[in-house]
Amino acid sequence: SQGRHNVVFGVGDPESELMFIGEGPGEQEDLQGEPFVGPAGKLLDDMLEMIDLDRSRVYIANIVKCRPPHNRDPLNEEQAACRHWLQRDLIRPKLIVCLGRIAAMAVIKPDFRITREHGQWFDIESARAMAIYHPSALLRDITKRPETFADLRSLRSEAKRVCERLYK
Ligand code: URA
Repeated sequence: SQGRHNVVFGVGDPESELMFIGEGPGEQEDLQGEPFVGPAGKLLDDMLEMIDLDRSRVYIANIVKCRPPHNRDPLNEEQAACRHWLQRDLIRPKLIVCLGRIAAMAVIKPDFRITREHGQWFDIESARAMAIYHPSALLRDITKRPETFADLRSLRSEAKRVCERLYK
């Protein structure tokens, strides 16, 4: 927390049946106090639009609430320090989408392999969860986008199947 400008909590509809979990705030998020408002956030908005959703219909949060210095991966102790916020954030989503490897390792399983296991559904406690490539990774490497489009289509059909309110 020492170098942060803002604590970045979740946004969106806390009652949503669908939750997205990223890694941690970047520079813009730290300055504005809101998750996914930088370049990766713009791509996340486009991804939501592709499945006929927008930010107001889902809930979006991060594993850690303060920006790690120089955007390094959050340390285990930092993740542990923020975990209670996430558990409080995790009200009752039926589906959780982890954005990238760090979130998938924290939410789905510690040995999660993003290249091999993205797009697969896992049953965790009271929800089903899947991971897709982090939007920042999709900005760096556009060859990953077709696989992500397929994952998003799978997300939309699963959401139509299990979320009663999301597409109403
Ligand atoms: N990357 C993340 O993982 N979270 C944000 O809020 C912004 C960028």
